[in-house]
Amino acid sequence: MKMPIPFLDLSLIDRELKSALERKFSDMLSEGIFSGGKEVELLEKNLCLFLDTTCAIIPCSNGTDALEIALRAIGIGKNDEVIVPALTWVSTAEAVSMVGATPVFIDTDSSGLMNLELLDSALSPMTKAVIGVHLYGKMLDMEKLVSWSKSKGIKVIEDNAQAFGAIQKGKSAGCFADIGCLSFYPTKNLGALGEAGALITQDEQLAMKIRMLINHGQISRDHHEILGRNARIDTIQAGFLNVKMSFFQTWQQKRKTLAGVYLKKLSGVGDIILPETILAPDHNAHLFVIQSDYRDALRQYLENKGIGTAIHYPTIVPKMKPYSFQEEYKVSEKLSKTVLSLPLNPFLEENDIKNISAKIKNFYSKIS
Ligand SMILES: Cc1ncc(COP(=O)(O)O)c(C=O)c1O
Repeated sequence: MKMPIPFLDLSLIDRELKSALERKFSDMLSEGIFSGGKEVELLEKNLCLFLDTTCAIIPCSNGTDALEIALRAIGIGKNDEVIVPALTWVSTAEAVSMVGATPVFIDTDSSGLMNLELLDSALSPMTKAVIGVHLYGKMLDMEKLVSWSKSKGIKVIEDNAQAFGAIQKGKSAGCFADIGCLSFYPTKNLGALGEAGALITQDEQLAMKIRMLINHGQISRDHHEILGRNARIDTIQAGFLNVKMSFFQTWQQKRKTLAGVYLKKLSGVGDIILPETILAPDHNAHLFVIQSDYRDALRQYLENKGIGTAIHYPTIVPKMKPYSFQEEYKVSEKLSKTVLSLPLNPFLEENDIKNISAKIKNFYSKIS
């Protein structure tokens, strides 16, 4: 049964966008170019313009591949360690493992971001890089992370799968690190109609290596300089992203307005901790994540009322089966038991947010 307010239903895109995508698809069918081509070049340009950067932006197959390619581009492999946060989508650490290196997990702060105060304790002679994650759309303090890394002589990768469009001190998320990684997974603020991602770098040598790594190590057709693979973006997805980019700002404004309604309506309700910084420019309002000790009961209550929610994430990465680390990550472990993502997307209206907030208030009035 379809919920009256689903967490996210991507079939709800408005008619204008739907027709623009259909036109693009029809044009691409007539064009007959399904790998590379002008849509991919246009996407590179559009992304650079939108992020207001002179960095190279190289579209690729998805965000997980972007992370793996980034690690390969800076030469991370066997016997290397890479510092990653304990609370993130699995890809951040998975990419490290897939290149044969070891992820070294550190705990987060109470908002879920990697605790930069713990970096020194994770450092070893084998540390080659750190991956910072802008979790839920909220940016890490990138100046701090970059200056720490520089002082230690290690590389920084920015996992910007979730914070596309966020800006810190005038600079776009993804443009601070040696390499920034983007995901255009369909549920992201800028989502493709399938899988897609991108890499960002200001280093020309790295840019060239990335272009080779995602295209079988070719420097030009049939000239294979290094070992690589096929991690190219699908041309059709590039075309769809070019269309969706022109709708992005309107959708962002909607997200921020709706997030503002939640903040107002849920302030002081029960034991809820709100994402207070969600309206700031360095947050792209990707997810509206509250914290509550009653998370599971509240989630069930909302589900019974037809309101979909999600948990980002119920298990921290070092405790997942492939890792099964014994160490404690107290803050992130607590978050994995208390965080709840409420519906926040451009297909909702202010009334939906008011209804959801009213249901949440009802829940607390019943348990108090
Ligand atoms: C923090 C984070 N890193 C990496 C990824 C991987 O992106 P993709 O799903 O495009 O492979 C995601 C997206 O799901 C993510 O949220």
